[in-house]
Amino acid sequence: MDQLSPLAQIARRPALTDGFGRAITYLRVSLTDRCNLRCFYCMGKEVKFLPKAEVLSHEEMDRLCAAFIRLGVRKLRLTGGEPLVRHGVMSLIERLGARVAAGELDELTLTTNGTLLAKYAPALAAAGVRRVNVSLDTLDAATFSQITQRPGLADVLGGIDAARSAGLAVRINAVALAGINDAGFDSLIRWCGEHGCDLALIERMPLGGMPAAHYLSLDAVRRELAQRWTLTPADGDAGSGGPCRYWKVLETGRRVGFITPLSHGFCSDCNRVRVTCTGALVMCMAQPGDIDLRAALRGGATDEGLEAAIIAAIKDKPVGHQFNLGEAPGASQRMWQLGG
Ligand code: 5AD
Ligand code: SF4
Repeated sequence: MDQLSPLAQIARRPALTDGFGRAITYLRVSLTDRCNLRCFYCMGKEVKFLPKAEVLSHEEMDRLCAAFIRLGVRKLRLTGGEPLVRHGVMSLIERLGARVAAGELDELTLTTNGTLLAKYAPALAAAGVRRVNVSLDTLDAATFSQITQRPGLADVLGGIDAARSAGLAVRINAVALAGINDAGFDSLIRWCGEHGCDLALIERMPLGGMPAAHYLSLDAVRRELAQRWTLTPADGDAGSGGPCRYWKVLETGRRVGFITPLSHGFCSDCNRVRVTCTGALVMCMAQPGDIDLRAALRGGATDEGLEAAIIAAIKDKPVGHQFNLGEAPGASQRMWQLGG
């Protein structure tokens, strides 16, 4: 990118800039609200999935992504629910992967719970996916089932191995839950070192009206980990740029990162927006007010019309989140509806 001529750089200047001057170059797209796990902090007990007619078709998703790409989005992350439970998901991923091959996108990535990765890893790699984030909060089978309300740890571990064998870089995402998985962070760091994965610990966010029970501030966790592991700042390393602050672990050679929406804001350099599987453009996952792009898609909007709707919406991207420990006043949706 640095090699581009000044003219080419202007031509590629992102058209999507919000009212605070933040360039939006990163889009997260939820492929489905469905999931084969039931993590208590995400889904709760009562889940009612959307009727299929409300979910965008492959064609609609591809068209929407293409509009964002024309407007300067360079990185696409596919999320869910669990993206790999979507019927025929590989044909959509292959279509989007072709945009990486064509140079329209810098990167296509996936956030997955890993249960189906053993089946899909080779196809994902072939489609142009280079990195996946796998949600794995614990290496203990009983704790895994306590959190996800399902069996499946062995499938996830097998899926991660398959992903590594297929050449995919893997980052493990673990939500930090006081009294549930916090005794296992050392094991996760060690295991990630042995399996060539980075690790991101995430503060639980209060979404969808659920308070952040078991919330754990990662500042204290990092100080404690630093007593047993040699941690040096590694934010300059490749793969940064998101809300994760990385540290190199000398003993394992891998990185451990901390995503701290509650204890430290990171909104000032936010470069991302989300689209749900129903085509709602979510400017900030902690704020109410999404823009219905499905209405434009299904109402016969031209590509220009679609782009204009996106540009207008992004101008109103809120400055930041208003999380507090008890609740997120604006966030009415949970992770499986928002898309990680
Ligand atoms: N707070 C923090 N992380 C969450 N996730 C789901 N719900 C929450 C929440 N309330 C995580 C998942 C996954 C990622 C997409 O988001 O565990 O790793
Ligand atoms: Fe599924 Fe991820 Fe939600 Fe767990 S956190 S229920 S794996 S969407």
